[in-house]
Amino acid sequence: MKRRHALRLLSTTALAAVGCKTLAQSRQEPSDEIGVEYIIESLERDFSNDIEGSLHEIALSKGLFYGSSTKSPALKKDLDFSRQVVHECGVIVPEGCLKWKALRPSANAFDFSRADFTYEFANKNNLLMRGHTLVWHKNLPNWVHETVDANNAEQIYHQHITAVAKRFSGKIHSWDVVNEAVTFRNGSSNYLRDSIWLDKLGPSYIETAFHLTRESDSNALLVYNDNGMDHAGYRYDKKREAVLNLLSDLKAKGAPIDALGIQGHLCFRDLEFDFSKLSQFLSDVSSLGIKILITELDVTDSKLFPNPDNRDKTVAAIYEDYLSCVLDEAAVIGLTTWGLSDRYTWLSEKRPRKDGLPVRPLPLDSELRPKLARNAIARALKNAPSR
Ligand code: G3I
Repeated sequence: MKRRHALRLLSTTALAAVGCKTLAQSRQEPSDEIGVEYIIESLERDFSNDIEGSLHEIALSKGLFYGSSTKSPALKKDLDFSRQVVHECGVIVPEGCLKWKALRPSANAFDFSRADFTYEFANKNNLLMRGHTLVWHKNLPNWVHETVDANNAEQIYHQHITAVAKRFSGKIHSWDVVNEAVTFRNGSSNYLRDSIWLDKLGPSYIETAFHLTRESDSNALLVYNDNGMDHAGYRYDKKREAVLNLLSDLKAKGAPIDALGIQGHLCFRDLEFDFSKLSQFLSDVSSLGIKILITELDVTDSKLFPNPDNRDKTVAAIYEDYLSCVLDEAAVIGLTTWGLSDRYTWLSEKRPRKDGLPVRPLPLDSELRPKLARNAIARALKNAPSR
């Protein structure tokens, strides 16, 4: 039995053995317990690294890509960091500068300055750039909520998507055209998340976005991007089911969708995986003729034990087990971590540790030194089947 399947059983058994409620058992509230046996097993693993090359070079040797999200101020001001980005990555994706709040200071204006800087950085360093994201319910400037109504919504929506996609036409590897449009509400058959776009434009806002983007950029891969599809448990099962429904519906309607973006924000709380269910989901997506990208990979360590060396081992184990599963699926074409270094991670602000210790979710530490997580990602890429 492959390690990961054994580990899954171990973690399920472990949770039972140590009295932890698994997510499946506690259908409504996520388990706050951590799989103790999983952690103990991870501490016994050897993550020493004898794999030559940058993460992108290792990925490329298997026909995959590796990259990271970036923030333009860090690229501008932190030369040591930007050098590491250029060394390790083949792709970058801006965390903020292609979102509405960065691009749209007002209803009548566009500000492409940060996006243009990031593209120039990528182009100058022979990096590909992902686009994130043309349509999201979050990070909208105040004027959108204050002025968009049933009469002007279509014009504002069409104008934004077309103007941004045309500006970067031919320069974007893949666009997260729509982000996080699916949610699972207990008992509801309607899986579309409430948003200003759904409210003003109806469910067709999603396929409209794909058509508008394709009309503006004939090259970019067009991606539907979402979270909550990685772990075991009832709400993850329902999210995977709902996303598959959306993808099937979009394909049936002839929407020009090329790929699913699985964000991959692996959570401390839902540590359990069910790799057989995850593999089946990836296979079902692939059966629709849709490729898969892992778009925002990181591992929250907020509730893991304080000792950084032990935390690093468990985080590395999670990266290796998850990637060993997803990279087995031929439809997966590459991955980007949501950050390269612990120096710049959204988790510091959004999922801080209660003990106040710095979080350690990413391949490089805050001093830009490689961590066991980097070795684990390298090993999973090296062991992946070639595309
Ligand atoms: O740039 C301003 C700065 O000038 C100002 O002083 C500061 C005040 O708080 O805000 C700064 O902007 C912040 C921006 O990140 C740049 O760092 C925003 O407040 C903050 O809300 C924004 O958070 C980003 C968030 O998306 C919302 O856009 C995170 O960095 C980013 O990691 C996060 O990424 C999302 C993906 O887009 C979708 N999937 C989930 C993921 C994590 O939430």
